[in-house]
Amino acid sequence: MTKKPTFYVTTPIYYPSGKLHIGHAYTTIAADAIARFKRFCGYDVRFLTGTDEHGEKIQKKAQEAGMSEIEFLDAQIADIKKLWEKLEISNDDFIRTTDKERHEVIIQKIFTKLYEQGDIYKGSYEGNYCVPCESFWTESQMIDGHKCPDCGRETKIVKEESYFFRLSKYQDRIRDLFENTDFVLPESRKNEMIKNFIDPGLEDLSVTRTSFDWGIKVPFDEDHVIYVWIDALCNYITSLGYMSEDDSKFKNYWPANVQLVAKEIVRFHTIIWPALLMALDLPLPQRVFGHGWILFADDKMSKSKGNIVYPGQMVDKYGVDALKYFLLREFSFGQDGSYTHRNFITRINSDLANDLGNLVSRTVSMVEKYNDGILVVNDAKTEFDDELINLYKEIRVDFEKQMNDLMFHEALESVWRFVRRTNKYIDETMPWALAKDDSKKDQLNHVLYNLCESIRLISTLISSLLPDTARKIFYQLGIEGFEELTNWESTDTFGLIADGTKVHRGEVLFPRLDVEEEIKVLEEMFAEKIVDQEVKLDHKEEITIDDFSKVEMRVGKVVKCEKHPKADKLLVSQIKIGSEVRQIVSGIANYYKPEDMVGKSVVVVCNLKPVKLRGVESQGMILAAGNDGDALVLPEAIGANDGAEVR
Ligand code: ME8
Ligand code: MG
Repeated sequence: MTKKPTFYVTTPIYYPSGKLHIGHAYTTIAADAIARFKRFCGYDVRFLTGTDEHGEKIQKKAQEAGMSEIEFLDAQIADIKKLWEKLEISNDDFIRTTDKERHEVIIQKIFTKLYEQGDIYKGSYEGNYCVPCESFWTESQMIDGHKCPDCGRETKIVKEESYFFRLSKYQDRIRDLFENTDFVLPESRKNEMIKNFIDPGLEDLSVTRTSFDWGIKVPFDEDHVIYVWIDALCNYITSLGYMSEDDSKFKNYWPANVQLVAKEIVRFHTIIWPALLMALDLPLPQRVFGHGWILFADDKMSKSKGNIVYPGQMVDKYGVDALKYFLLREFSFGQDGSYTHRNFITRINSDLANDLGNLVSRTVSMVEKYNDGILVVNDAKTEFDDELINLYKEIRVDFEKQMNDLMFHEALESVWRFVRRTNKYIDETMPWALAKDDSKKDQLNHVLYNLCESIRLISTLISSLLPDTARKIFYQLGIEGFEELTNWESTDTFGLIADGTKVHRGEVLFPRLDVEEEIKVLEEMFAEKIVDQEVKLDHKEEITIDDFSKVEMRVGKVVKCEKHPKADKLLVSQIKIGSEVRQIVSGIANYYKPEDMVGKSVVVVCNLKPVKLRGVESQGMILAAGNDGDALVLPEAIGANDGAEVR
């Protein structure tokens, strides 16, 4: 027997610093879909996920919770594993970076090897560091000269002796990778990386820390812990046994075929990661796909209720496939999209309850009613058959390509084109009319057969994306467990169900939901979160009224607003304050489109020293509130005239 081709797919390893939300689940569900699809197509698949457990952020969280790091982590990891089980994620492995033998020891070996061969050297470092993002930033990269451009939080200056990785040495090879291969997709991410990081020139990277100790120690210099990203990225190979006694899995599965991440960590995965692999003289992954963000920025939802939606609760209420279908179908993989409860419920109703659910229940009921549930093979063709079957052949080809391209939303849309066409076939052939005429019995049976056969093909195609639903439909069609009717090869042929097969009605696949009512249910489901979450405030040093009065704040009116040419999160506004117009750059682009800003009244700090933000001058600052870089301008509606002083 010939060896199956291998396919290795990974998700990021998640920070176990709090409950995972539907954004995290999005990547894992997508990775699961591709893993299942490749297994279905005959590949020897390995699907890895796991947790990224070192670094200052985790250490702090554990302290806040009053636990030891490992106690804190074990509890978090148990929850994460439960969540993946609930979502029926088919991962073959789960790596924890605190696993000593499997991971920590190997990271030390990797570090030592790179040091001995001169790719890592000792020096010292001073820079602006964002603790939650574990990243250093230069002044020009930061918002207002001191805030993290990724999350908007304050950075702090960190000075320490440090080991450096010679990233600069790999500049040309990394550029070549971007310019001459499809290593990074989608295309837009590629261009972003070239412009923001490769063109300005890659600098050597500080790869150790001495300011905290929750991490893997440099084996020959124990005051230093290894930078969490070096530790984390290598999980993709330590989990396969790289540099261990048994590296057979590494030999079998590396290089990865697809590594999925969202856009904020594309930089680490497409610059640092390949450079590390080059230094280790290892082959590079075929592809890093940087998908978009699911935003929860439907304004009202985030302001009044906290903006997080948790997958576990949604699955309990609506079923695992409803969530999977929504996430994979609603958002175009690669681009950002906004989550709203309304979109979620509407999508389930229209596509799952109406289109698919109705097709299955109508069909199975008719077979039961008109022919005691028995399917008959005959050649009483109708004039509508060819169009139905030809459309199937077309979407079958599209579907395969779209799945391989990770265009899940398109792949599902292809199948649903056929679902809708099959529903139309019912309207065209009118089985209820055929049933009234005894001489049309053959034709009736033929139509019912074609309907069931179409449903077999639909459910077989979606079985990697919605495994639960596919299983339920196979049962209703009476073909559950019939491998040759439900495998990938079987999707090549229309007309495989055997004569005499008996169908049976089952439970309703997706009950129809009352949109307004369910929106309320969801709002309530996620509203409490904010109440039971303890918010610890990090107060600053006290100031006097005199200190405060040094700050000149005035109301301004936005007269013009544009996107920052180089930074996604920044907007450049022209603000009228009395008879002056000032240009101000602010990190509010996740919440406002430039056109939303025009006409708004905002509060401006006028006597702040002008700075350049990513090359664009900012003459002051707009007051805004929010977290994670998503800031809302204050106040939203103000009665005062522009120029009025704020006190
Ligand atoms: O970054 N929309 O872990 P993390 C879409 N430990 N995807 C989202 C999302 C959203 N709103 N929010 C999170 C880390 N994700 C590091 C990774 S890898 C060697 C180390 C998904 O817990 C998305 O895949 O912050 C993103 O890249 C990942 O969660 C970040 O998870
Ligand atoms: Mg993150």
